[in-house]
Amino acid sequence: MRPLSRRRALQLGGLGIAGIVVGSAGLAWAGTTRYEPVPGEDLAAPSVLTSTAGKLTLTLEAAAGRGTLAGRDATTLRYNGSVPGPTLHLRPGDHLGVDLVNHLDQPTNLHTHGLQVSPQGNSDNPFVMVDPGQTFHYDYLIPDDHPTGTFWYHPHHHGLAADQVYGGLYGAIVVGEPDPPQVSADRVLVISDITLNSAGAVQPATAMQRMTGREGDLVLVNGQSLPRLTAQPGARERWRIVNACVARYLQLRLDGQDLRLLGIDLPFGGQAQQVEEVLLAPGNRADLLVTTHAGISTLQTLPYDRGSGMGMGGGMGSPGAGSGGSALELATLTVSGAPAPAVTALSPRPAIRDLRGADVTTRRTLTLAMGMGMGMMGMSSGGSAFTIDGRGFDPDRIDHTVASGAVEEWTITNTSQMDHPFHLHVWPMQVVSVATTPVQPATWQNVVNVPAGGSTVVRIAFDAHTGRTVYHCHILDHEDNGMMGVIEVV
Ligand code: CU
Ligand code: CU
Ligand code: CU
Repeated sequence: MRPLSRRRALQLGGLGIAGIVVGSAGLAWAGTTRYEPVPGEDLAAPSVLTSTAGKLTLTLEAAAGRGTLAGRDATTLRYNGSVPGPTLHLRPGDHLGVDLVNHLDQPTNLHTHGLQVSPQGNSDNPFVMVDPGQTFHYDYLIPDDHPTGTFWYHPHHHGLAADQVYGGLYGAIVVGEPDPPQVSADRVLVISDITLNSAGAVQPATAMQRMTGREGDLVLVNGQSLPRLTAQPGARERWRIVNACVARYLQLRLDGQDLRLLGIDLPFGGQAQQVEEVLLAPGNRADLLVTTHAGISTLQTLPYDRGSGMGMGGGMGSPGAGSGGSALELATLTVSGAPAPAVTALSPRPAIRDLRGADVTTRRTLTLAMGMGMGMMGMSSGGSAFTIDGRGFDPDRIDHTVASGAVEEWTITNTSQMDHPFHLHVWPMQVVSVATTPVQPATWQNVVNVPAGGSTVVRIAFDAHTGRTVYHCHILDHEDNGMMGVIEVV
């Protein structure tokens, strides 16, 4: 294990947020409320459940429980006793059955983020509520022409989504392609954040954090603190990275290695794109090929300024919205030894759909806003401080009705001083422009960032499925506070 400097260890613990005192003797904890992670373990993969003969059936038990997190004992929420929950390996055309068992002391449910499956009945229906002690059977039919790639699952109960995801309920879904690029390792890296107290219990979010979007002190990869990966030089690995953080944007770098993106959320067409950095808003996934060079590299997330709502944020007492002031180290990659066996050259991937030349059926504008007059104490007035088109979420109201088969253009405008990552269930969005900058080549995402004071334009083909579902901000605190609307496709 690479020795970790005290400074690095403290950065992992969230240096920059209140709680640390610098004295002549060096650094000391100001209180006893910190959980000190044990960094540097070998990366562990979540357990894998794979479909056979077109079917995967599993039981997913959501419960609070004691177990390992960040190398120590912690009491968190868990799916089947682990953080993250099991990775589900599927193929287009599969049938997925999930018995969700709720052992929590509050209601929950399940969302298959990014899967293009029906939003109705016991499929990806965000209006389902599973009470404590109850079991709900979900049944998902993955279409034969479903895109391949990396997806994820997490709870989606309005008002509780942030607490439950932050508490540890999330897992990856892989939809495999018939002819994947040859790689020496195919890894799932679920990145999450959490704050634990010294007893290893989850620290609840403050009222301020529920407004700005909570960011935990610990940023974990597969539930581990600064895990260690190893590879031979010249190896090609596939890293499927999920941003499962409630509110934290990840600006990822891995200096010293060759990075090629196969997609953000959904696959790109053509050649993989060589990149230096990958920005993942909450909910986004990256499908990344890493071709290794000898040496030790660090996967880090750089500071990303997502704005400070209502002019708040910044000060020591307010973790705010800035994702911290310094880079955080997430994992190390040690590349050494004999060269890896040669791999076949990458072949270009199939061209993907491009709606920029399509006839647009309807144009809509959606406005994301944070209410004026929202003071430090926030949402006490009963009205929602977080709105879309001037209204807070109401599950009994349909905000937009769309004709099945329509191709629509949505201009999503953000009048607030914070970025909001906009997520639409079921139907992916082609990103046309972000803050007036056109996006090339064709890019399909399930979460698109809408910058503070700016607009993002997307096109959506409402194919394949009908029914009622939601769109919302994927800063889950904002979703819980009302920044969500209902769409029905008929
Ligand atoms: Cu999601
Ligand atoms: Cu938001
Ligand atoms: Cu959602």
